[in-house]
Parts: sequence; C-alpha cells; structure tokens
Amino acid sequence: MKTVSGFSKMNKTQKIAWLAEQLGPEASKLVTEMVSFWHPDEKTQKRFDEFSENTLTNFDLPFGIAPNFLVNGKIQSVPMVIEESSVVAAASLGAKFWLERGGFRATVVATKKIGQVHFQWQGEKAKLLSFFEDRKEEILTSVAALTTNMEKRGGGIVDFELVDCTDKIENYWQLKLQCETCDAMGANFINSILEEMAQTLKLKIMQDKRFTAPEREVHVIMCILSNYTPECVVECSVECPIEDLGSFPNDMTARQFAEKFATAVRIAEVDPNRAVTHNKGIMNGIDAVVLATGNDFRAVEACAHAYAARSGQYRSLSSVSLENDIFKFTLRIPLAVGTVGGLTSLHPLAKTSLAILNHPSAKELMEITAATGLAQNFSAVKSLVTTGIQRGHMKLHLLNIMNQLDATPEEIEQGKQFFTDKIVSFQAVRQFLNR
Ligand code: MEV
Repeated sequence: MKTVSGFSKMNKTQKIAWLAEQLGPEASKLVTEMVSFWHPDEKTQKRFDEFSENTLTNFDLPFGIAPNFLVNGKIQSVPMVIEESSVVAAASLGAKFWLERGGFRATVVATKKIGQVHFQWQGEKAKLLSFFEDRKEEILTSVAALTTNMEKRGGGIVDFELVDCTDKIENYWQLKLQCETCDAMGANFINSILEEMAQTLKLKIMQDKRFTAPEREVHVIMCILSNYTPECVVECSVECPIEDLGSFPNDMTARQFAEKFATAVRIAEVDPNRAVTHNKGIMNGIDAVVLATGNDFRAVEACAHAYAARSGQYRSLSSVSLENDIFKFTLRIPLAVGTVGGLTSLHPLAKTSLAILNHPSAKELMEITAATGLAQNFSAVKSLVTTGIQRGHMKLHLLNIMNQLDATPEEIEQGKQFFTDKIVSFQAVRQFLNR
C-alpha cells in the first residue's frame, strides 16, 4: 500500500478506485464486490455513508430474532445482530426454557451516568473548596440552556462535586457530575455540559478576588463522560424449584444439574481465566441486542468488564444460589443504552429493532438486554456441564465449514443429513466432501 493525501476529499467511487489500484491482481474483484454491498436505495446508502468516514461500502452481519422471551410478564422477540453461530440458538433455547418456568424478572437498580472535567490548578486548596461552595449554583446555572429540555423529561444533573485528586497527580482536580439522561444514552448531553462548565469554571476563577494572580489560572486537561457507569445498573434473574429444572442427558438429575451448574458459576467467580470466557458468553447475548438497537457496544463492553473487576479481581457477572431448594440465577450488569437519539433513530434496522421490542424505554431495553445476556449464559453453562459445548456448537458451525469449503447447496443438504449423528470437525467435513 502507498500513502495517500486528500483521501477523505475523494468521492466514494474515487476512493474505491484508489484502493483497487493498490491491490494489483485482486483489484477487479474489489470494485464489483464493494459496489455489490451498496444499499439499493440511494438515500439509505447515503445515510450509511455518513455514519462514519471514508466509507466504501457496508459490512453485512446477520440480523435475527430470539423469540419467546418472557421479561417482566411481557413476551418479547429479541432482535440480535451477531455473526457467531449458535448464539441466537442458545438465547432462544434459554428463553424457551425459562418461559415454562416463570420467565425473567429484571429491575433497573439505577440509571445515573458520570461526566468529568479534569483540570489542574495550583494554589491553596481551602480557597478552591470555598470557591466551589460559593459558586456551585452559578456554575450549574451557566449550563441551564443545555439541561432545560432534559429536566422537562425528568432528567438533568443530579449530583455535582469538586474532587481533590492531588494525591494521584500533582495539582489534579475534577468537576464530577452525575446525570440522569432518561431514554438517551446521553453522551452528547453530558459532554456538551462539561465543555460549557469548564469555560465557566475558568472564567469564574479568573474573576474571583480570593485568588492571587497565579491561582487564577485553570488548566483544563479534558472534558468527557465516563463510560464506567456502576450507577446505571440492571439486575435480572430467573428462578424455579430445583426439581422443576427437568431432566438432563446421561441420567443427570435436576439436583445434580443444579449443583454442577452452581459450581461452574462459582469457578467463574474465583478464577479470572474462566470468568473472562463466562462473561464473554453473557456479552454474546448483550452485544447482539446492543448492536441490533443501534447502541454503543464498545461502551457497554468496556464498562461491563471494569464492573466485573470492581472487587479488585475479575469475576463472573452472574451468580447462582440454591437456597431453600430454589435454583436462582442472577445477572447484575451496568448497561448504558438509549432508545432515542444517535443511531437508534438513524439506522433503519435499529428503528425496526425498537419497534419489534414495542418501543421500549431505556430502562426496559436494559431489562430485555440483561435477560438476553442471562439466557445466553444459562444455555452456555448448561451445555458445558451436560453435553459439552462442541456437539451443539459444531452442528451449527457445519454450515460455516461447508461454505468455507465451497460446498454446493446439494452437498450442504447431504452434509446436514450425514452429520446428524456424527461429530463435526473441519477434517471430517473435508473428508465427507472429498468422498
Ligand atoms: C462462546 O462464544 C461462549 C462460551 O465459551 C461461553 C462460556 O464458556 O460460558 C460458550
């Protein structure tokens, strides 16, 4: 590849042509391939192009639904966008299993989000603290234009403090906000407030007579929301008498299953190696819903894992109890998602996802998303402690292997028949096709 200048100024066709030029023999395929993934409706394609920069085409991912989710008494078909085979199947199986046992109960514990103005200031600490007490209301009033609408919807700034961080970095202070952003994810709302506040802070300190000339200088490092939202948390659980868990392969009793399942989850509580994979299973479900509804999966991921490590060790996000012969499986996870604004209102399929979920509030979306994560986790651990993961997984993976080996539709059908009672492996599929 060569370097290029002015790439962003080229139109889409020019960008593709430039890339094709670099590719040599593969170029002819590139242009047709890129164009083949454009949306047939020009207006929709333009919208996709504008989501990001230097867009050449769209990258398709499967969009499916996991039906039969009973969440807080309502049946939902949950939209999921994910490329990994068996995830939607596992979520659907988990949903069906718990549909017959009372469904998922979810509660949003809190919905506050944090924003910080990080700044450096040098001077007599007591002066800054007293300044903040005196001027706090004025600083808040200075962002009224930005908060009025959110306040009308029941949100806004719910807490505001000055934090002394000088023990961590020399002269380092924070203005720390807690915000309620209602149905919006709230990143733009919080960031705009922070930038405005930083200006007010600078100005007010500069004008305040209690400070000496060198103390009048505030060095703002940055203004940004925190994607760590331990105060924006949902708890979701399923429960039933142990004997109602049913029967399991290899004559495993319901109690044996419950105990083995509980031990598997406890292992994820004490062993970070297992905890990461265990939580990855949860995020299989969570990310798929977050993506389908046009939310920010990077923020959700970053936060979930920080939360999983809040005790100082990375642990499972879900837990099990078997008290009084009741099997109870619970997921507690921070989920900063929105149902208005951003991609949720721009991406046609994100809008459709929200319509499929009957236009949920952000809180309801948190509950449904957590239920999907828990269902996914339940099915994964259930497979692991009973049949093992590979049997079900590789059967669903069969199609991917067949496609990778360029099998014809006829061969795929024959392969499905052939492998119904056999172990699927890449080697076995290749051998089958060679035969
Ligand atoms: C695979 O995507 C997810 C699992 O590894 C989760 C788990 O081990 O619990 C099956």
